[in-house]
Amino acid sequence: MTIIVRLVAPEDAPALAELLNAIIARGGTTALEDAFSSEQLAETYLNGPNVLVCLVAVETDSARIEGFQTLGRYPNLPDNIGDIGTFARVDGTQRGVGSALFAEMAAQARALGLSAINATIRSDNIGGLTFYGKQGFVDFGVTHGVPLKDGKLVDRVHKRFALSIEGNQNDKTQVEVFA
Ligand SMILES: CC(C)(COP(=O)(O)OP(=O)(O)OC[C@H]1O[C@@H](n2cnc3c(N)ncnc32)[C@H](O)[C@@H]1OP(=O)(O)O)[C@@H](O)C(=O)NCCC(=O)NCCS
Repeated sequence: MTIIVRLVAPEDAPALAELLNAIIARGGTTALEDAFSSEQLAETYLNGPNVLVCLVAVETDSARIEGFQTLGRYPNLPDNIGDIGTFARVDGTQRGVGSALFAEMAAQARALGLSAINATIRSDNIGGLTFYGKQGFVDFGVTHGVPLKDGKLVDRVHKRFALSIEGNQNDKTQVEVFA
């Protein structure tokens, strides 16, 4: 499998909504629980005002999108810290899609002058925690007992990837936003 990574295009929205909705429907990984329309997905993760960069991974032979990664502004994070989300096809995980996306995303984030990238992951999402750990993210904080729609409480783990010395500092004001 050969994967190329490119910037998202507006016409990718329906395929990406389908890809993400399959992950949501399977459950147990992403904190997202409601399906997205193409329009909602575009506004939230692809090219809306709070999106900094969105990348897609495409398999060259089939031209099929295998995953996407979005970096955006999160309301309670400082402007120099982007918030990341990564999604690979449910039938195609652990084939290097997420890693290929992040190699390019780290370069894009540096070019934007960001100091760090935040990832917030459900504590029961072992695949997500392992994935971000493999990319070099380190634990930064935990928000305890965030309810899912069914009332089940699941901790959220916040991991950071430092892009600069500044981003490496353990700034307590940034921890408090998750308390
Ligand atoms: C997490 C996710 C993006 C990883 O994508 P991926 O394409 O499978 O990741 P890669 O193949 O690049 O894996 C990179 C590393 O993470 C590890 N990893 C990925 N998924 C894993 C899993 N389910 N369990 C254990 N380790 C896992 C791989 O073993 C790999 O390590 P290696 O480089 O030593 O082989 C993908 O599983 C996914 O979309 N999950 C559902 C959505 C989600 O949970 N996103 C994260 C929260 S936003």
